[in-house]
Amino acid sequence: MTRAFELRHLLGLEGMAPGTITELLDLATRMKEIGERPLKKVPSLRGKTVCTLFVEASTRTRTSFEVAAKRLSADTMSLTATASSLTKGETLLDTAKNLEAMGPDIIILRHSAAGAPHFLSRHVRAAVVNAGDGRHEHPTQALLDLFTIRERLGRLAGLDVAIVGDIANSRVARSNIFALGAMGARVRVSGPGTMLPPGLEQLGVTVHRQIETAIEGADVVMMLRIQKERMGSDLFPSDREYFRRFGLTRERLRLARPNALVMHPGPINRGVEITADVADGPESVILDQVKNGVAVRMAVLYVLAQRSAGDSLPAVGDAS
Ligand code: CP
Repeated sequence: MTRAFELRHLLGLEGMAPGTITELLDLATRMKEIGERPLKKVPSLRGKTVCTLFVEASTRTRTSFEVAAKRLSADTMSLTATASSLTKGETLLDTAKNLEAMGPDIIILRHSAAGAPHFLSRHVRAAVVNAGDGRHEHPTQALLDLFTIRERLGRLAGLDVAIVGDIANSRVARSNIFALGAMGARVRVSGPGTMLPPGLEQLGVTVHRQIETAIEGADVVMMLRIQKERMGSDLFPSDREYFRRFGLTRERLRLARPNALVMHPGPINRGVEITADVADGPESVILDQVKNGVAVRMAVLYVLAQRSAGDSLPAVGDAS
């Protein structure tokens, strides 16, 4: 098993050992405590530089990586596609090489092309974190989802988790399927037939054509956004029809276990994937997911920086 502190990059969760995932979640628990202090800052990454390079839009992931880096006292550089020379035709590799000339220790990349972070990791010295690559993976989102489930329900093994929506286009679904499966949870997926890619069963999940059977008795109901930007053509007749067949309503939620968690990675399309009363209701942990994202990303940055620095970084939580 690769120990968390031996990770060179974080490119995906496929094949990651349960022990490695547990180490990251345990470290995130310690990081969360730092975020609850009056002074939410420790010097662990002082002198380190973290660069975010987002070639696709983001609200939660980009800002939470920046908050995470700042809480660990790292210096940050932030670049988005529209504000960069990518708009003038500079390639991703040239952009990354130029950023690397300024000495970042960690580059966090979001890109519409699956495999872009893997490509970058072969060409730069910095550690690379995948912040979402096309339809492929979004490892820190899945880690924060697992963290939130474990925090609320006390375990992951043996839970029934329903993932509902645009499975075909969702990197969040893929990373969660890999990580939840590794941790011993049972995953059910559901969505319109056009959004269920072939071969899902080979990933160890059960496939449900109706949301009702997917949700029935579930401990966790994870709704996904319809990724219209990744669809070549419409995969369902209308938003209204989608909501009628696959929207999470209070009535449908009653099929899940009592006190089941409602999750969504965001951004939410209210009235399409989920009703407002469920998104804002007592079962919803959607904003906990966002809060926990900072702690999980602090843990990821810490382990990647630790490796590049040998054992010289201050211990987690050391405020001196
Ligand atoms: N969950 C998620 O990736 O959100 P953003 O696109 O806002 O980063």
